[in-house]
Amino acid sequence: MKMMITKHPSAWPARFDLMQSATGLFLALFMWLHMFFVSSILLGKDAMWTVARFFEGYFFFGTNFPLLVSGFVALIFSLIIIHSALALRKFPANWKQYSRFWQHMRSMRHADTTLWLVQVVTGFIMFFLASVHLYVMLSRPELIGPYASADRVWSLRMWPLYLLLLFAVELHGAVGLYRLAIKWGWFDRGDPQSTRRRLKTAKWIMSIFFLVLGLATLAAYIKIGIDHSANVGELYTPSWMEVQQ
Ligand code: HEM
Repeated sequence: MKMMITKHPSAWPARFDLMQSATGLFLALFMWLHMFFVSSILLGKDAMWTVARFFEGYFFFGTNFPLLVSGFVALIFSLIIIHSALALRKFPANWKQYSRFWQHMRSMRHADTTLWLVQVVTGFIMFFLASVHLYVMLSRPELIGPYASADRVWSLRMWPLYLLLLFAVELHGAVGLYRLAIKWGWFDRGDPQSTRRRLKTAKWIMSIFFLVLGLATLAAYIKIGIDHSANVGELYTPSWMEVQQ
């Protein structure tokens, strides 16, 4: 008599999927906060200085601990590495898979399939661009401030990298959140077509809002960087501290 051995399917693919969604959600929400903190420069140099020193614990301990920032950057960097490693499982692996996907995308003509390609391309671009930015933040956290950041953007020529990274991250983040909402059925009120339409509108609003805010912020750092280019390396001291001294 033949024995039937039933093998249970592994739960790991599902766990990996959940981990990819959870890390993606955390990183997308972090990028919203990041953009608000970085754009504090639009409120003035003192505002940005205050935000930067806040994360170094200055207002709790009365002295700066830039290592706190390095620790947080290391956490974000690790999450990005985990998220990318999990995403790599789904990248087409060879020419045959790419051409199959291409044919599939062209025959389907479905916007969400095209959005998946946008995720793959922007994600791939970020492998390189985000690593450069994060390494600088990790290794020199004390050089975050109105003058130090503006010098980096302008005199150290980081602005082309930031410009590309800004478009990649804002598209990737908004498309990612949209795809998460569709995948896990968030905001679904029983009418999938209208939910999809509403989520698409929200996705566009998100991308455009953060792109406009990001471009205005980058322009502000460039302007300060140009004005400060004769004094590269000098750090900013807020006006109220100068009065105290
Ligand atoms: C904890 C981690 C991070 C910290 C502490 C940080 C900090 C900063 C700071 C201080 C700036 C201002 C420019 C400068 O000082 O060089 C900046 C700009 C920028 N960061 Fe980050 N960042 C982090 C993570 C990320 C990640 C993960 C991304 C994208 C994947 C990113 C994308 C950008 C972009 C695109 C800009 C330019 C902003 C603009 O164009 O308005 N950052 N970041």
